[in-house]
Amino acid sequence: MKPSEEEALRLHRRHGSNDAIIRHCRTVAMVAAILGEEFERRGKEIDIKATIAGALLHDIGRNRVQTVRHGLEGSLILEKEGIDESVVQIVRRHVGAGISATEAKELGLPEHDYFPRTREQIIVCFADKMVDADIVRPFEEEVRRFEKKGHDVGRLMALKRNLGADLGTDPEALVFDKIKGTS
Ligand SMILES: [Fe+2]
Repeated sequence: MKPSEEEALRLHRRHGSNDAIIRHCRTVAMVAAILGEEFERRGKEIDIKATIAGALLHDIGRNRVQTVRHGLEGSLILEKEGIDESVVQIVRRHVGAGISATEAKELGLPEHDYFPRTREQIIVCFADKMVDADIVRPFEEEVRRFEKKGHDVGRLMALKRNLGADLGTDPEALVFDKIKGTS
C-alpha cells in the first residue's frame, strides 16, 4: 500500500509523531512534489504517489530514535504496517546524503548501504536537505552544516548535481521559483 496524505498522517499519529515532525514532513513533501511533478512534466518516469508518501513519512522513525538510525527505524515501522517497499526504501535511504556499508557498520547499523538510488529516493533525500524544521532554505546552508559536522560535503554536492542532471534543470532554483510563484 502506498499511503495517501491522510493515511500517512494517521500513521504518524499512531506512532506518536509530534506536530514538529509532521510539519517538517509536510514541508519536505511539498518540495518533493514540486520536483516529482517537474519530472512528470518533462515526460520522465516517476512514481509521484510513492515520492509524496515517502516524503510524508520519512522521519516517522524519529519517534523511536534521534540518531542516523531513524531512517532504518522508520522503514521498519512502515514494513510492519504493510506499506509498499518503494515507500519503505525511500524512508530507509533519506538520511544524510546516503550511508555506505562501511559507515553503516561503524554507526552500528546493519551492514549494507543506505544510498538513495532511485529517482524517488533521491528526490526525498534532496528535498529533506532543503528543509530545516518547516522552512525551505538555501541548499548552501545544508552544505555549511555538513562542513561543520565534518560530513562528506562532496557527497552532498553530488546528490544535488546528479538530481539536476537527471531532471535537466537546477532543482534548488526550480523549488524556489515554484514557491515564489504560489505565494
Ligand atoms: Fe530524517
